[in-house]
Amino acid sequence: MNDAPRDPAYGPEEFEEPVSPDVAALRDANIMLPPQGEARLASILNVARYHGVEMDLEALRLRSAREAPPPPELIAWLQEAGLWARGVHMNFRQILKMDSHAPVILLLDDGGAAIVIGRDRTRNLLVLRDPRKPNSASPVLVDELRLKQVWSGATLLIRASRHGAAEEQPFNLGLIARIVWGDRKILRDIAIASVTLTVLSLVPILVVMRTIGQVLQYQSTSTLNLIIILLCTAVVFEAILTWARKMMEVVLAAKLDARLNLMIFDRLVSLPIEFFEREQAGQVAYRIAQVNQVREFLTGKLMNSFIDILMLVILLPILFYINATLAWTVLIAAAAIAVIIALFLRPMGIMQGRIIAAESAKGSILIETIFGIRTVKALALESARSTLWDRRVAEVAELHVEQSRLANWPATLTLPLQRYCSVGAVLLGAYIALHSKVSIDTASLFGFMLLGGRVAGPLVSLAGLMEDVQRAQASIGQVGSVLNRLNERHALANGLRPQFQGAIEFNDVTFRYEGSKTPALEKMSFKIPAGTMLGLVGRSGSGKSTITRLLQGINRDYTGSIRIDGTDMREINLRHIRKNFGMVLQDNFLFRGSVRDNIIAGRPGLSFEDAVRAARLAGAEEFIERLPNGYDTFIQEGSPNLSGGQKQRLAIARALISDPKVLILDEATSALDPESEALVNANIQRIGAGRTMVIVSHRLSSLLDCDLIMVLDRGQTIDIGTHKELVERCAIYRHLWFQQNRHLAPEGFNDAASHPAIA
Ligand SMILES: Nc1ncnc2c1ncn2[C@@H]1O[C@H](COP(=O)(O)OP(=O)(O)O)[C@@H](O)[C@H]1O
Ligand SMILES: [Mg+2]
Repeated sequence: MNDAPRDPAYGPEEFEEPVSPDVAALRDANIMLPPQGEARLASILNVARYHGVEMDLEALRLRSAREAPPPPELIAWLQEAGLWARGVHMNFRQILKMDSHAPVILLLDDGGAAIVIGRDRTRNLLVLRDPRKPNSASPVLVDELRLKQVWSGATLLIRASRHGAAEEQPFNLGLIARIVWGDRKILRDIAIASVTLTVLSLVPILVVMRTIGQVLQYQSTSTLNLIIILLCTAVVFEAILTWARKMMEVVLAAKLDARLNLMIFDRLVSLPIEFFEREQAGQVAYRIAQVNQVREFLTGKLMNSFIDILMLVILLPILFYINATLAWTVLIAAAAIAVIIALFLRPMGIMQGRIIAAESAKGSILIETIFGIRTVKALALESARSTLWDRRVAEVAELHVEQSRLANWPATLTLPLQRYCSVGAVLLGAYIALHSKVSIDTASLFGFMLLGGRVAGPLVSLAGLMEDVQRAQASIGQVGSVLNRLNERHALANGLRPQFQGAIEFNDVTFRYEGSKTPALEKMSFKIPAGTMLGLVGRSGSGKSTITRLLQGINRDYTGSIRIDGTDMREINLRHIRKNFGMVLQDNFLFRGSVRDNIIAGRPGLSFEDAVRAARLAGAEEFIERLPNGYDTFIQEGSPNLSGGQKQRLAIARALISDPKVLILDEATSALDPESEALVNANIQRIGAGRTMVIVSHRLSSLLDCDLIMVLDRGQTIDIGTHKELVERCAIYRHLWFQQNRHLAPEGFNDAASHPAIA
């Protein structure tokens, strides 16, 4: 067994060749920062530990590049480690008054640091600790004067990360409203512009209405000229203001778009893999895209409705002022319009739901076909896919026609009423003027003709707003159905971050995939010490991959417990687990980009030397150097320019670069030709030095070197032991072994009969 614990921070010692000198120098664990820098690192490490988070001192030393790290970097590291950290400026009194017991870091003027661990309020003293001294060293008491000489206020506040902040709220109208509210300054300006514009568009009408009679009566050209100049100025002003408001709306829309999109992506990627495995990519993409509808609604319809309401608020009193009787009839007609539209809202809403469902079904056919185009071509499924597509397209088209037919009704029914508001009211006015004693002057009739129509428009669109609200709510529901699921964010941001050794323990772990009746793992228990190379064998479907998935925290709703180095996995930070656990699958996705980029895979703080180191360990160096551009060779999508064995070795290098304490290979060599497989297997021993390996393989010959082999069947552990022990005592294993190595099989071995459990 390979249980010699290794230096916790640095790469395996088995590199025969020395790494380049400066890297070697940096990697020398004895490298120290200047004392102040060391004090700062020690202080954040210390406080992080207080909050249950273990940070990696060596890594931080490397990242500090021999200098005392400035506060923003310290804060970034603490946040990366999942803590809440803020840099603030405080004075002695404020720190003395603080209620919290949590330690506070004072960033001293000389670049060093001190930790406040207590307060003596009666004597006005702070209890400080020098972070470089051991915790047992006695603390120092300082007063304001003494502290002032070395510290001018730079303070680091650190807390265990708070969750349940803005990000964890469900995606709904309220959340969006809060996002919009964040831009209330622009909103306010738009509102002011809108009010002004409304007034500006009404003033000319009122002015003309009130003065035209007099101008004509007294033939006053000068008054007319004055009015013209006045109105022209108003028009110019209106034009400028309209332009400005439009620009503000555009900026608001762009901001909102960016915020919504960032938030949505962030939430999407924090959903568990399980979700993506279950849902169709097309459906998810379509539903997420619905957020654009929401944004359009907010910045288009809603904004316009606001302007409409303004119009109504200003207009109605004017109409009543001009003539109350006529105003009432207009109001009644407008209300009738609103009622008609309201009656159609529900059927329209239902129709909208059907359209969304049909559109999303259509979208998923398209995306599925694009993703699976190889299979479509290879199996000549083009026409079958086309037929499916045709059907969906027809369905959507039909629904759209049906929707328009439905929407046509309220439009047609309300038209006469709308006309009444602008023309009918005037005619009625004229009739009243002729046949009753109520006097209505021409100016008033003229005013009604110009303004009456403006009441109907906003009311119609307000009633229509309800429909748009419903549509937006449907869209939010669609987006929410994707985003408002239990996500991994909490587990990704919280929890312990221990330095792993790699001991793994399963205790009565039972796990069932969602929707399946039989458990994939049933009361599984086993325990392996750190550094073990564990092989998993068992027939297809026996639960081997499930074990590796649980170890990666992909599926988390198991019962029983999984312990890593004795700590329950549920208490460990999920990102920390995935960073420290390497994983190589049968088919690994290589990104478009150079070989080097693929090995480093965007991880920060890694250099070319690290990539070379990992490639060498994975046995990939030899072929990479023979590629046309070496490490800069471009890998295409689907990596057609690499053989299967080369791809696997790159994937192993990628998994190795972060020096994982646990490396999982799930059928990593199963799809390879024997020669490539031998090449990869030849490196396994080297790769496994100093880490725990979990190797799933159906080819027992590649597990011969394992310290322990576990035999699984139907989600249960059948036996666990070395190859020799298993051949002797485990029937399933013996059977598999002789089946694959007939030449070793004892006389009379009959693979069909001896063990029916093996397919
Ligand atoms: N994503 C999944 N959803 C539902 N059932 C699954 C899923 N993955 C595996 N299973 C089922 O769980 C059982 C164990 O599967 P798995 O661990 O993949 O087996 P192995 O890797 O040993 O072939 C099988 O019965 C399989 O059908
Ligand atoms: Mg499997």
